[in-house]
Amino acid sequence: TPRVFSGIQPSGDLHLGNYLGALKRFADAQDRGVQSLYCMVDLHAITVWQEPERLRHATRELTAGFIASGLDPEKSILFNQSQVPEHTQMAWVFNCVARMGWMKRMTQFKDKAGKNAENASLGLFGYPALMAADILVYHATHVPVGEDQKQHLELTRDIAAKFNHDYETEFFPMPEPVIEGAATRVMSLRDGSKKMSKSDPSDMSRINMTDDADTISRKIRKAKTDPEPLPSDLGGLDGRPEARNLVNIYAGLADMSAEAVIAEMGGRAFSEFKPLLADLAVSRMAPISEEMGRLMQEPAEIDAILCRGSDRAREIAAPILRKTYDIVGMVGR
Ligand code: TYM
Repeated sequence: TPRVFSGIQPSGDLHLGNYLGALKRFADAQDRGVQSLYCMVDLHAITVWQEPERLRHATRELTAGFIASGLDPEKSILFNQSQVPEHTQMAWVFNCVARMGWMKRMTQFKDKAGKNAENASLGLFGYPALMAADILVYHATHVPVGEDQKQHLELTRDIAAKFNHDYETEFFPMPEPVIEGAATRVMSLRDGSKKMSKSDPSDMSRINMTDDADTISRKIRKAKTDPEPLPSDLGGLDGRPEARNLVNIYAGLADMSAEAVIAEMGGRAFSEFKPLLADLAVSRMAPISEEMGRLMQEPAEIDAILCRGSDRAREIAAPILRKTYDIVGMVGR
């Protein structure tokens, strides 16, 4: 049976990349009737330093972001990772399956650890084994993510395959990454060669999900572009990363393909296209930002949703963990 799992780190402001690459796609898939679990991965967040009160706030705000994006906590299971201990229990087994050499090749580790890898936390190095545990402890079959998570998904499959091979079993299914749509890699508004990210020091590089209408519109008007008008076919975007990014953002927000956007907008100057994009972004994002603000007035309700979601998640994870320990040879009750 199909089952969807995905996670987002509560490690700073949610941005348009998280919305188009993840949250919006989760919401669009909600009514397909597949059991879906979405996790605030707070244990992943602390692989780099987090101020405790900020982390608590960010976890609640991320949950509000899910709900404001259209996810219904009755239809989907929304929970935070640290309330389901099976994730870390499974991760230990995977720490013993995964190889040092696999981990060293992870580009996210290399990016985040920077030049001084000796000073990175052990948790940052082992991050992908915990991520594999997140997915496999539910026997999830489909994992919707942005393009930057592709390598981690491949490692998850490697871990599942090695476990199955070593223990001569077919216990773990191979999860499929789902990387679909026009905006699975949203780039910085200041530099079309860098992805939009919460760690970019320039706030003008991204649209935050908590930005108000004026801020959203100003950031789009100031986005970097080249002097040419939009081309009349997709090939004309080659070598124009900033133009391509704005077209993809338009496509993602409007539920169109990039081709369809070019068919409609080809030949227009940015002085014409940007105000249209700004209006579209404001009309889609400002209501979400307002709803997040409203939900954050009632943190106790958010905590109750996470608590209930964690109970539902544990019901699925506990028997799968128990069976895993049994396969490995642990004596249990
Ligand atoms: P995180 O928290 O960095 O990002 C959450 C989701 O947003 C997507 N995303 C983007 N999509 C398009 N353009 C961008 N600029 C952009 N930036 C981020 C990410 O691809 C992701 O889908 N390791 C994961 C969290 C995680 C997870 C998991 C995901 C932990 N366990 C299990 C799936 C399954 C991460 O750091 O995502």
